[in-house]
Amino acid sequence: SQSTVFAVASILEGCSYINGSPQNTLVPGVIELAGQKGVFIGGDDFKSGQTKMKSVLVDFLVSAGLKPESIVSYNHLGNNDGKNLQAPKQFRSKEISKSNVVDDMVESNHILYPGGKSDHPDHCVVIKYVPFVKDSKRAMDEYTSSIFMNGKNTIVMHNTCEDSLLAAPIIIDLCLFTELMERIHYKTKGMSEWGQMKPVLSILSYLLKAPMVNKGAPVINALFKQRESIVNLFRA
Ligand SMILES: NC(=O)c1ccc[n+]([C@@H]2O[C@H](COP(=O)([O-])OP(=O)(O)OC[C@H]3O[C@@H](n4cnc5c(N)ncnc54)[C@H](O)[C@@H]3O)[C@@H](O)[C@H]2O)c1
Repeated sequence: SQSTVFAVASILEGCSYINGSPQNTLVPGVIELAGQKGVFIGGDDFKSGQTKMKSVLVDFLVSAGLKPESIVSYNHLGNNDGKNLQAPKQFRSKEISKSNVVDDMVESNHILYPGGKSDHPDHCVVIKYVPFVKDSKRAMDEYTSSIFMNGKNTIVMHNTCEDSLLAAPIIIDLCLFTELMERIHYKTKGMSEWGQMKPVLSILSYLLKAPMVNKGAPVINALFKQRESIVNLFRA
């Protein structure tokens, strides 16, 4: 895709590249190239409104022993992104990046979800284009959980987010963190020379909906765990 061409050009220039969109820009060949050139990449998709809330609320529910059974997320927005998301392919990539956000929290709790990967809440994401609301995106979410004695608990949320005002500071933070990471060199006991982090900056997960990680590393979606990893790194 065109965005992959931009990513390759950026890496060849030695410039870090962050993918703020949901599409599959950073394909395996791009990740490999970044590794060869020692350039940082990160992605995918800015975590601005509804998903940020979801990565807090589901973490809270699961860790409190309440079992989310169905998560239904409905959005409408009227900016150009909303217009583009009417196209089925673009919607599909957004649907995937929004849906995966609960996976690690669900998989981490074998008591609530004993069935492994196939055992997860129903999760439905709808996005509609409504030009009149412009950049003022509406997100309506319904979380239904099983609780004590197989009772049910339903939480409903209505969130009006100014789409660009939420995204812009995330972009600034991503640039700042990435620039800082470019300056960090480290050496452990087993290393003879100073080294840099691996090419995929998973430390940026706090700001991204579908965090990319280096091969073999776990994907963490829970917001406060992501925040803790940033705090721990800079404390070190
Ligand atoms: N809150 C947010 O705004 C938010 C949150 C998460 C993710 N995103 C993602 O960020 C992306 C941009 O969102 P936006 O709201 O700024 O959309 P937008 O439509 O306002 O801006 C996209 C820009 O990209 C330019 N463009 C399109 N094709 C191009 C190409 N081939 N080469 C160079 N430029 C090109 C367009 O001219 C336009 O200026 C989307 O993929 C969106 O899903 C946005």
